[in-house]
Amino acid sequence: MSEVSTGPVTVEMIDGVARVTMFGPPVNALGLPLRKALVEALDGIAHDPQATAVLLTGQAKAFSAGADITEFDAAASSPDLRELVAKVEDFPLPVIAAITGVALGGGLELAMAANARIADPEARLGLPEITLGLLPGAGGTGRLPRLVGPARALDMILSGKPVSAAQAHHDGLVDAVFADPAAKDGVRWVAHFALKGDRTRTRDRQEKVEVAHAAPGTVAKLAAVPLHKAKDPYAAQAAVDAITAGIEVSFETGAQLEREKFDERRQSPESAAQRYLFTAERAARKPRNLSTGVGRRVARAGVVGAGTMGSGIAMALAAAGIPVTIVEAEQDALDRGLARIVDNLATSVAHGSRTEAAASSERALIETSLNYGALAAADLVIEAAFEDLQVKKDIFATLERHVRPDAVLASNTSYLNIDVLAAGTAHPERVLGMHFFSPANVMPLVEVVRGAQADAEALATGFELVRRIGKTPVVVGVCHGFVGNRMLEVRSAQAERLLVEGALPGQVDRVLTDFGFRMGPFAMGDMAGLDIGWRNRKAQGLTAPVSDAICKSGRFGQKTGAGFYAYEGRDRQDDRFVAELIEGVSAELGIVRRPICDQEILDRLTFPMINEGARILAEGIADRSGDIDVIWVKGYNWPAYRGGPMWYADQVGLAHVAERLQHYALLTGDESLQPSPLLGQLADDGTTFGGDSR
Ligand code: CAA
Repeated sequence: MSEVSTGPVTVEMIDGVARVTMFGPPVNALGLPLRKALVEALDGIAHDPQATAVLLTGQAKAFSAGADITEFDAAASSPDLRELVAKVEDFPLPVIAAITGVALGGGLELAMAANARIADPEARLGLPEITLGLLPGAGGTGRLPRLVGPARALDMILSGKPVSAAQAHHDGLVDAVFADPAAKDGVRWVAHFALKGDRTRTRDRQEKVEVAHAAPGTVAKLAAVPLHKAKDPYAAQAAVDAITAGIEVSFETGAQLEREKFDERRQSPESAAQRYLFTAERAARKPRNLSTGVGRRVARAGVVGAGTMGSGIAMALAAAGIPVTIVEAEQDALDRGLARIVDNLATSVAHGSRTEAAASSERALIETSLNYGALAAADLVIEAAFEDLQVKKDIFATLERHVRPDAVLASNTSYLNIDVLAAGTAHPERVLGMHFFSPANVMPLVEVVRGAQADAEALATGFELVRRIGKTPVVVGVCHGFVGNRMLEVRSAQAERLLVEGALPGQVDRVLTDFGFRMGPFAMGDMAGLDIGWRNRKAQGLTAPVSDAICKSGRFGQKTGAGFYAYEGRDRQDDRFVAELIEGVSAELGIVRRPICDQEILDRLTFPMINEGARILAEGIADRSGDIDVIWVKGYNWPAYRGGPMWYADQVGLAHVAERLQHYALLTGDESLQPSPLLGQLADDGTTFGGDSR
């Protein structure tokens, strides 16, 4: 066996098979140095008379995570990814990609240009470009449909979700799955392929696209559902256009269109926003005031409360293989919680997102009890009881009598003061907040609330647990509503005021859906149930004249068939009754209603949130403006292609935001709209919030 190393690429000759190994830690991103080294290595092999075939693989934890995202601010230098992919596809010898870890984006495109793909059972393959506001840029829109058919290709490209090796094998994306495909068995497989394999280039494979090619319009029909679900409509449409051309006209025409659309998207503000979020999310994993790596591994967890949140949290833990015990005060509540879990697992099996076996092993990890003593072995307990300080204080007091002295105690409160809760315990150093979002088994965000007295180990235990269950943790400080709900309250207050001043729910909601939210605040309120907010306001002695009046009329949202809208099933309609009720509230308050334009609605809903975000930063509740953006995109569905509220503010200009806030404060007499000191100062300095800067 001979070995040649060209920087990040090693070539070993094993029984006539040239094993080419990429080594660009951590994930073999295909930046210029790696591309150059690969081209050089392939050129060398092409001239090596001993070589009969190439096995292309990657060391580190990936075959390759694709193009180097940090290179996207400029056009790619030669050899670009397309040149490298063409070199592989037109190589004089058979090339087989051996995939361990992930093959994503350009990494998978490189693998698809090979003559065949073999993969490790743990490998994951995908084209996640859409999550960066892009479409595949190195022939992926043409090659993937030729390997897996148009329907699967559309699904993978428009969702951006990777598939398992088993799924890829089933779909035809991978030719064989076995352990260590880059080792001895892989070399043997390649040698065999060199003798007997079908070397038709992927671009020339027509079987799986023949039907769609012969019937123009097929791709558009297949694309309708995944296009509607796609998070970035611009990148999604661009991808569909390229896929369609690649199938209905020719591979070359599709590739040409793909190139144009990729360059257009790469330079778009939508892609810049999503690339920023990619780094902001990774920056959030390195919190400034919390050491990671010092947490305890949670072998067993506990949850107090079997309501919607408690059962959702238990499901999230079990899905990550963590045994969990749910404790409730009443058998009925426990039964309802368990029924919810069983239902949810059954639905996910029916939808194909879980196998029957996975669902039953997750179910088996969840135990229930009416006795706090069942939590004696837990390393961490999450309290998810009724949102009331005294209720939670009592639970923490009971917990302390039953859990281990070193168990971490977390509250899933959405608003309450963690420090007050901690102060009531004998060991405040082990108390923190873990604010999940509903439904907790689905939503990807958890605010990890840094209690003032919590010690490094407790905080790291909570933080690392969130990572382990596949969610994004963002560390926040203690204040009413933390980061997300504190900003949401400001938005809700403005939404309510807009109604009183002259807008109607339909207009307000439409402005936010036009902006990119899935739902506006009133449709959202109707879905969540208006009575909850009403009860909370009453408890705090607060009022919201329109929302209170709607509730007083017995309309609590979808569950009562009426709220801010009238419902037939889930179909929402504007309701004359609501318009008249709102006009009545304005008259009662002596407010002369005026037409309010869409721009004012958008500004009045978003700029006060940004202002509150600036206060949050000034108070040190969030470490970075990027953390706030991650919270809003992951927890509240702020459209990712608009980067989050603070990024959005940086784009429209902080001076503009400050000027408009002053203007609206004057117009409405609402002094809370005045720019905060930090916003005012940054606006005067002509700077930005700075996003993800570490
Ligand atoms: N380019 C540059 N850096 C990358 C990268 C990429 N494609 N993928 C990951 N990284 C970096 C991360 O920024 C991170 O850096 P820091 O340590 O400095 O924070 C480091 O690699 C490790 O990444 P993660 O923290 O994300 O590690 P993980 O184990 O949680 O996840 C992963 C690994 C699944 C590969 C994940 O990083 C990922 O999904 N990466 C992005 C994949 C992607 O979107 N590829 C498509 C690129 S676009 C493309 O290829 C266009 C084209 O068609 C030409």
